[in-house]
Amino acid sequence: MKKKLFIILFLIIIISLSFLLKKNTKKEINPFQEFPFYKEHLQQEYEEYQKQNNYSFKKTVINVNIGINKPFYTNSSPAKYLNTNYILVNKYNYLSKDYIPNNLVNVNSSGIRLVKEAYDSFKDMANNAKKENLNLRIISAYRSFEYQNNLYNKYLQKDPQDKVDTYSARPGYSEHQTGLSIDIDNKNIDYNKFHLTKEYTWMQNNAYKYGFILRYPLGKEVITGYQYESWHYRYVGKKIAKEIHDLNTTFEEYYYEFIDI
Ligand code: DAL
Ligand code: ZN
Repeated sequence: MKKKLFIILFLIIIISLSFLLKKNTKKEINPFQEFPFYKEHLQQEYEEYQKQNNYSFKKTVINVNIGINKPFYTNSSPAKYLNTNYILVNKYNYLSKDYIPNNLVNVNSSGIRLVKEAYDSFKDMANNAKKENLNLRIISAYRSFEYQNNLYNKYLQKDPQDKVDTYSARPGYSEHQTGLSIDIDNKNIDYNKFHLTKEYTWMQNNAYKYGFILRYPLGKEVITGYQYESWHYRYVGKKIAKEIHDLNTTFEEYYYEFIDI
């Protein structure tokens, strides 16, 4: 009798142990969870996105964190880290109508304004480019919500919305509203031909040393949401700019791997 009881008890212990073990193993083999930037509430989206695409687990998690699994402008949130160099504004993260960055300063007497730290670094960059006989000129920087609204609506008069959305941000969604973005030319050639200039080559090799990154690179349209813009640079600070340059990545991918975790 005692022996029977012992066997039953033993069996119960074995069954409970194997049940517990199974539960733990299940948790351990969730391949998305191993990354520090994993977000529990997106688990189901990771799984669905993974089924539709053949990306690595890491790329799957980052892309879903960016929001790429949903169409642009359908699932947006207020931008975080306001008034810092690592604020992200794109088709998934917007600024309110009344957001005006701190520390805007005038760019010479042009009426253009930019956040002071970015402008100080730009001046340093332009002075060093000048030593090699290259000209860098800011043609657009901070834009208010209203300014972007007028610009976007002006474009809508000549192009259908799906086309406009490839080159102009909707109001509230423009990085120019952060006061950290600049459009530049070389004073001679139209800004949209900047990629053909010596200044562009110089920027490719040097912009990061001054804290600037090319924000909308060629071939990254699916991630950034915009066509290639060789003239649009974003100030992110020297440390982040160097890391993005060395990794040859986009700000979106960097942000969801290293900043918003
Ligand atoms: N052209 C950039 C994407 C903007 O409109 O902010
Ligand atoms: Zn721009």
